[in-house]
Amino acid sequence: MSEPKKLFIKTYGCQMNVYDSERMAEALGGQGYVETKSPDDADMILLNTCHIREKAAEKVYSELGRFKGLKAEKPDLKIGVAGCVAQAEGEEIMRRQPLVDLVVGPQSYHRLPEMEAKTRGGEKALDTDFPEEDKFEKLKSRPKAKRGPTAFLTVQEGCDKFCAFCVVPYTRGAEVSRPADRIIREAQDLVERGVREITLLGQNVNAYHGAGPDGDMTLAALIWELNKVDGLERIRFTTSHPNDMDDALIEAHGTCDKLMPYLHLPVQSGSDRVLKRMNRSHTAESYLRLIERIREARPDILMSGDFIVGFPEETDEDFQATLDLVEEVKYGYAYSFKYSTRPGTPAAERPQVEAEVADERLQRLQAMITRHQREIQDAMVGQTVSVLFEKPGRQPGQMVGKSEYLHAVHVSDTDVEAGDLRKVKITASGANSLGGALI
Ligand code: 5AD
Ligand code: SF4
Repeated sequence: MSEPKKLFIKTYGCQMNVYDSERMAEALGGQGYVETKSPDDADMILLNTCHIREKAAEKVYSELGRFKGLKAEKPDLKIGVAGCVAQAEGEEIMRRQPLVDLVVGPQSYHRLPEMEAKTRGGEKALDTDFPEEDKFEKLKSRPKAKRGPTAFLTVQEGCDKFCAFCVVPYTRGAEVSRPADRIIREAQDLVERGVREITLLGQNVNAYHGAGPDGDMTLAALIWELNKVDGLERIRFTTSHPNDMDDALIEAHGTCDKLMPYLHLPVQSGSDRVLKRMNRSHTAESYLRLIERIREARPDILMSGDFIVGFPEETDEDFQATLDLVEEVKYGYAYSFKYSTRPGTPAAERPQVEAEVADERLQRLQAMITRHQREIQDAMVGQTVSVLFEKPGRQPGQMVGKSEYLHAVHVSDTDVEAGDLRKVKITASGANSLGGALI
C-alpha cells in the first residue's frame, strides 16, 4: 500500500466551519489522506475561511503568501481555499494568488474528491455553485472512528433574514434544512462512536423546518426526537434568531430533559432605531419579553448573545440603549464586535461611525459584559452542577469538562474519564473556569 497523503486544514470562524472541516477531512480520507497538524509535511493544505468580519480576505491572501516557500520546495503540494471567503472571492483568489490549486465554496464540499483528483492531474479546480443535491448525504463518513464526548451536527444552513451588516445570506446562501431522519441517523452514529453531547448547528438554527415523517418539522420537534436517542445525554443548539423562537421551543427548555439550560440568542443592539436599520425585524422590548418567557420556562437558563457596536449612524443614545439592555438581561456569555464594513451588504453604503468612537463603545460594552459574566460565574460557587468531562486539564491529575451552563469546570485527583457525566460541587471561580469536587 502506498504512503497515505497528508492533509493540513486550518479552520477560521464559526462552529459550522469546524464541522465542515471534519466533513472535508473525511471526504478526502476516501482519497487516501490522513490529517497532519503541520503544514510543513502536508501534501494538501486547505484553509477553511470565514468572511464575517474585518479584512477576512486580506488575511487569507497573506496566509497563502506564506506557503510560497513550501510550494517551491514541494511542487506536488496542493493548496486549497474553502469556506466563505472562497465563496465570496471565487476565481479572484486564483488570479491574485496563482499558487492556489483549488477553490471550493461551502455548498460544494461533497465535490472535493473529484476536485482533488483534478488538481493531481495538474489542473485548477473551482466550485462555488449552490447545487441541489444534499452535500451531507454525499459526505457520509467512513468507518466508525471513535469520537470525543461532544460533537457538532449541522441541521440547517444559510439565512434568508438579510440583516443589513451580514454576508451570510450571500456566502452560505438561502436557508436550507436537512431532513430529520438523516439528522437522527447521524446523531445515532455519533453516539455509537462515543459522543454524549450534540450541538445542533445552523446560521438560523431555530428556523429549522426539515422534512419529517408527517411534513416539515420544527426545531422543537427535532429536539424531542433526538431526546429519544439512547446514549445521547445532552442537546444544545446555536445560533438562533429572536423571531424564530416559537412557543414549542421555549417550552422545550422547561420540559425536555436532555436540552441544556443555555441559549445563544443574539440581539445585536438595544436601540430600536438601529435594529430597524439593521433590518432585524424585532425591537429591544420584544426581545426582552421573549427572554422573560424563556426564563419563565427555565428560570436558571444562561443567556448568551452577540452585539455590534458602531453600526452606521449609531449615536451615543443608541449605544446607551444597548448598555441598558445588557444590564437588564445579564448575559452569562456575550460576544461583541465593532461594526465592520462588508462589501455588497446594504449597511456598507451608509455613513460610518468614527473608529475611535466605536473603539471606546466596544470597550465599555465589553467591560460590562465581563462584569456580568464574572458575577454569574462566581454565583455558581456552592452549587452542584453536572459536568460532562472532555479531557485532561493543565495541571497533572486534572480533568476538565463543561457544566450544563457551558462553564468550563475542572476537578483534580479523580478517576474520571473523558465521556463521564458526573455531579460536581463548585468550590472556586477563576478567570475563565470553575473548580469543584466530585460528589
Ligand atoms: N460587523 C461586525 N460584526 C458582525 N457580525 C456579523 N456581521 C458583522 C459585521 N459586518 C457579528 C454579529 C453576528 C456574529 C456572528 O458576528 O453579531 O451575530
Ligand atoms: Fe446574518 Fe444572522 Fe442576520 Fe442571518 S440572521 S443575516 S446569519 S446576522
